[in-house]
Amino acid sequence: MPSCGVVDSANASVVVAALSPDEAKIAAAGDALFKSNCAQCHAVNEVVVGPALAGITKRRPISWLIPWVKNSSKVVASGDDYAVALFNKFNKQQMPSFNLSDKEINSLMVYIIWAEGQSPQVAVN
Ligand code: HEC
Repeated sequence: MPSCGVVDSANASVVVAALSPDEAKIAAAGDALFKSNCAQCHAVNEVVVGPALAGITKRRPISWLIPWVKNSSKVVASGDDYAVALFNKFNKQQMPSFNLSDKEINSLMVYIIWAEGQSPQVAVN
């Protein structure tokens, strides 16, 4: 969604101001990681190739999200009910494995939580 860049940055100053400086830094790192690794298949507020990621930290604990991002097929192969159902729902399309640290995955989640708050603007655009 190229048009969102403008909206996002206009909003960012408002929302990021509500985050502590540390949180804003983490969210910015997550934003960069998201753009380079995830955005080809995911958006926060709409389904692309994979599911919309808004609300993900409410659907799944971080103890699930970290191994999932590192190697989702391993989680599916373990027989995890949620993972198997999701994998089937998305036509058994495999998400790639990512060589990211726990800290990087955490910052991705902070970014997603921040970006969830952008949904009305993203939806309009
Ligand atoms: C090539 C496409 C692709 C890329 C790139 C990708 N994903 Fe996915 N992702 C998927 C698909 C497809 C699913 C649905 C599950 C499945 O089919 O395995 C998914 C599922 C997920 C889920 C579970 C969502 C839910 O609603 O439970 C999370 C979390 C997730 N991806 C995070 C990420 C993150 C973070 C990145 C970047 C580091 C990323 N994905 C990169 C395709 C992708």
